[in-house]
Formats: sequence, C-alpha cells, structure tokens
Amino acid sequence: MDLTGPAPGLRIGPLRLEPPVVLAPMAGVTTRAFRRLCRDYGPGGLYVSEMLTARALVEGNERTARMLRFDADERPRSAQLYGVAPGTVGEATRRLIGDFGVEHVDLNFGCPAPKVTAKGGGAALPVRRRLLADVIGAAVRAAAADGIPVTVKFRRGIDDGLLTALSTGRIAEAEGAAAVALHARTAEQRYAGDASWAAIAELKAAVTTIPVLGNGDIWEAHDAVRMMAETGCDGVVIGRGCLGRPWLFADLGAVFAGRPAAPPPVFAVVAEVMLRHAELLAEDEGEPAGLCSFRRHAAWYTQGYAIGAPGPRHRCLPGRAGRSARRDRPGVGPAARSGALATGSHRRAPPRPPARRLAAPRRRSDPTGRRRDPRQRRLSQIQRD
Ligand SMILES: Cc1cc2nc3c(=O)[nH]c(=O)nc-3n(C[C@H](O)[C@H](O)[C@H](O)COP(=O)(O)O)c2cc1C
Repeated sequence: MDLTGPAPGLRIGPLRLEPPVVLAPMAGVTTRAFRRLCRDYGPGGLYVSEMLTARALVEGNERTARMLRFDADERPRSAQLYGVAPGTVGEATRRLIGDFGVEHVDLNFGCPAPKVTAKGGGAALPVRRRLLADVIGAAVRAAAADGIPVTVKFRRGIDDGLLTALSTGRIAEAEGAAAVALHARTAEQRYAGDASWAAIAELKAAVTTIPVLGNGDIWEAHDAVRMMAETGCDGVVIGRGCLGRPWLFADLGAVFAGRPAAPPPVFAVVAEVMLRHAELLAEDEGEPAGLCSFRRHAAWYTQGYAIGAPGPRHRCLPGRAGRSARRDRPGVGPAARSGALATGSHRRAPPRPPARRLAAPRRRSDPTGRRRDPRQRRLSQIQRD
C-alpha cells in the first residue's frame, strides 16, 4: 500500500479539486470566516457552507440568507441544503444558484438530530427510497441548466439493522448526482465509535460512475491518504479534525503532493490565527455576536496546548471541551507550562479528536439495562417505503 505517492485530482461535475479534499459542512462552524481560513491554507479544495434549510431559504428567511455569505474570491461557492419536499428543495436549489451565485450544492441526508429525523428528514430520509430519489432528482434538475453539480452526503444507515448507504449511493447515481459522500457511521452512533472505513470501500464498489468520498475519523493528513488507499475512495471529507486547526488543509496539500506535513504550529502562531478568526466573525456578525460565536472555536484552538493554569483560570476559558480535554492531556500543567510561550515549546500534544467526546450521544438507561433514550425510540419507528 503506497501512502506517500501523489493522489490525482478529483472531478465533481465541472469542478476539479486538487488535492481531493472537501471541508465537511458543519452547522455553526463552516461560516465564511472559517472557510476563509481553511481556504488560505488549502486553496485547491472544496469548502462547504453550514447546512441551510430549504424551506427557510424559499420563504426568504433573513437568518438563512445571512448564512450565505461568501468572500468575493471564494470559488467555487458551495452550500449544503437540507429538505424533505422535492418541490421546495428544487426551488431552494434554483435560488442558491440564481440569487447567491452558488456553484456546488450538497444535499444533507445524514443529520441525526431528533428534531430532523422525527420529521422523516436528514438521516431518516434514505429509508424512504422513492422520496429520496424525488428530492435528489429535483435538486439535480434545478441545477442542470446552469451546469451546477449536486452532491449527496449520507450515513451508513439508521443503525446496524437498517443500513441504507448502498441503496442511497445507487439512487444518487441514478438521479444524476455528481458525487456521493459517506459519513461512515449510523445515525444511532451519531459521532461516537469508530467510522467504518470498510463501509466506504463497499460503497465505492457499488457506485461506479461518479466519485465516492469518504468521511469519518480523519484527524491527521496522513489519515486521508490512508483512507483513500484502504477504501479506494476518490476523495475525503474533513470534519472534526480541522476544528481549531484550519492549517490541516495545508498538511493535506503537502501529503497529497508527496511531502511531509509541517509540525504543529507553536502557540504564538495559533494565537494569530485565533485573532484573525475572531476578527472575521466580528466582521460578519458584529463584535458581541462574533465573539460569542468564537468561544467554541477558542476551546478547540487551545486544546492540547500547554497554556493556562489549572484551577480557577480554567473555569474562565470558554467551552466544556477545552476544559476537560486539556486536563486529560499529557504535558499540560504547571511543569509543562513554565517558559513554554517564550521558547515555542508549547506545541499541541498529538493526536486529538476534539469533538469526539463533545458529540458523543447522551444515553439514559434504566436498571434493567434497556435504553430509554427517546431518540432511539424515534429512530426505531422509522419505516421503509
Ligand atoms: C459541530 C458539527 C456540525 C455538523 N453539522 C453538519 C451539517 O450541518 N451537515 C452535515 O452534513 N454534517 C454535519 N456534521 C457532520 C460532519 O459533516 C461530518 O460528517 C462528521 O463530523 C464526521 O466526520 P469527522 O469524523 O471527520 O468529524 C457536523 C459535525 C459537527 C462536529
């Protein structure tokens, strides 16, 4: 298995990505500000917006329109849509292209949030195959006149007993999607447990005429090369691995070009990136709201670095993830801290999946051991067509 050689570029309709890397859509994260930073580090990839609700877009919701901010030099403009009604998704696709100059539309069939799956949307929709085909077909037809590619992102299925990835991939292919991306976990898993890269290989074997992108557990650049080598997938989608680390896209560019990734930046460099991120958010949202949005990013940026004192000061730092994760890390504490800023020795402790814990499902169980999480009940009620 060759993990060092250069990977060929990836074609998604008329778009060519080199390296074959996509920033995963992440609600509240992949704003113009974060995409700007990621693009600066990795100019050749595709950087997808936060998820937009088709209905809200069609109804002219102001907040949704504000989420469609793009830099003047942002190409291609990429947006993710969520919707369950074919007509609304078609109309929303038309508006994205016509009103906002969007050049790539991704459809979300992977959201595991109960408020979404309870309405039969997100990760629940692939179970209803006819509706799934109609929704994808509506978006593809709406985008076709302008030559805009539509891609489809989904999970392995509802749970291990109801796997839908292969049927979803084949339906997307038949309906004219330009590529498919698999987040290789089930909806039941949400973000817990390991992603099944074997499921990505299975999808790649089943979907033969359009690119298949793999998603899940790429924490370091070499993971991306390894995923492509192990699964045969055509490109990768990067989620939590880049939270607080937009420079991961520079590392990806390097390893796909056959060069080694750079060592993690010293904290002085991280602090500059943090400042820029906060300024970009403040430009878009105003200072108070922008800084509020920045708090979760601050926790991700500082995670694993030997900064701050244990004890009361930790409580001043924003975000649960930052507090707990830093305590868990080797090299964090008074000894590691002393002189670190001055010497540049305060590098991040590798490796770190920041949001793995963040997003783990919260389950309640009763003394009999039965699951009582209402989400599970709702997922189990999902019916096939
Ligand atoms: C904070 C956060 C928000 C997310 N929002 C979305 C979203 O809006 N649309 C979507 O398709 N996936 C969303 N995801 C899932 C990611 O796109 C990705 O599929 C998932 O994190 C798995 O990739 P990873 O293991 O590289 O993190 C989100 C994930 C996180 C952590």
